[in-house]
Amino acid sequence: MATFDILVLPGDGIGPEVTAEGRRALEAIGERFEHVFRFTPDTVGGGAIDAYGVAIRPETLEAAKRSDAVLFGAVGGPKWDSPRAPVRPEQGLLALRRELGLWANLRPVKAEPALLHASPLRPEVLEGVDMLVIRELTSGIYFGTPQARRVVNGRREAVDTDYYNEEEVARVAHLGFRTARERRRHLTSVDKANVLASSRLWREVVSEIAPEYPDVTLEHVLVDAMTMHLIRRPASFDVVIADNMFGDIITDEASMLGGSMGMLPSASLGTLREDGLGLGLYEPIHGSAPDIAGKGIANPLAMLLCTAMLLRHSCGLEEEARALERAVQRAVEDGLRTPDIAAKGERTLGTREMADAVLERIGG
Ligand SMILES: NC(=O)c1ccc[n+]([C@@H]2O[C@H](COP(=O)([O-])OP(=O)(O)OC[C@H]3O[C@@H](n4cnc5c(N)ncnc54)[C@H](O)[C@@H]3O)[C@@H](O)[C@H]2O)c1
Repeated sequence: MATFDILVLPGDGIGPEVTAEGRRALEAIGERFEHVFRFTPDTVGGGAIDAYGVAIRPETLEAAKRSDAVLFGAVGGPKWDSPRAPVRPEQGLLALRRELGLWANLRPVKAEPALLHASPLRPEVLEGVDMLVIRELTSGIYFGTPQARRVVNGRREAVDTDYYNEEEVARVAHLGFRTARERRRHLTSVDKANVLASSRLWREVVSEIAPEYPDVTLEHVLVDAMTMHLIRRPASFDVVIADNMFGDIITDEASMLGGSMGMLPSASLGTLREDGLGLGLYEPIHGSAPDIAGKGIANPLAMLLCTAMLLRHSCGLEEEARALERAVQRAVEDGLRTPDIAAKGERTLGTREMADAVLERIGG
């Protein structure tokens, strides 16, 4: 019987509502497959700002480092949104990524056949969409220095720096190639090499590594073209790698292919151990959805799929991960819907009921 320590950071808005279901899913898996999950709940984001004046406390970061995985809901909301606020909720997330060295963000995007109607795209374009986007997470323009805003000669100006070194690019490239090998052996690398020096380095390093993976086909695509191809031929992508900012943008675009933000999970991983596992942070790609917070109608499926990724990447429990993913798929195939994925007139379930429907289908 294996024991795993999970730090649970529900955050703000619908974060606590969906995280509670993620925790229940792990408990259900633990019961069925005889594992023990020990949960440590803590505060992050707006809640932490209210309680402690910081978006995350140092002791929470220490607890994260000691755990096997972090289950994270979402942070933010109108209360803390002022651009002039000295502390911002998302600083808690950025601190976690930095302190835990989580440099890769994995976002699988799948168009469930039963949900094709929920996307604004035509069903025939979406058929067969099954891709994994890997976004570099700890470098690039979000972290490069100088980053500053100043007044020069009475005029406001601001500067950001898009920095990458070859090691940062290489580790993402290797992860992309290795992952593609286990899937359909196709890797798309996204950059803006026609304009940016950092992108030219990105492309050079990815191309240099490619011969180590002769069985994987590599395609370079400029980010502006990529935004178009994602809509025109989304099913042609298998594994996609991108830097921090481009990855941020194209993953949100890609999320529309899955129908709803409420369906898509993500995993943030650092350098893995020899056994291919490691500490990871698992969070749905959606935010705190203040418009539906407290109503009990948030879609818990993204969070349940996050727990499946947690089982796979941090616990090495592939069979359990698949059991949970299959249960989600069955619930959707059986016509169960939260409001965000329901067609007009379809009966809908609340957060708890939807999660119950999935848990009933584990191993069924
Ligand atoms: N990682 C994070 O914690 C994270 C990510 C994105 C946004 N945010 C924060 O969340 C707040 C709201 O941001 P936003 O409105 O741009 O994005 P959002 O993802 O919270 O919501 C966008 C839309 O999707 C819907 N939605 C999101 N998740 C859903 C779910 N599980 N089920 C059903 N519907 C769902 C919302 O109701 C809303 O209409 C902001 O404060 C933002 O900064 C946090």
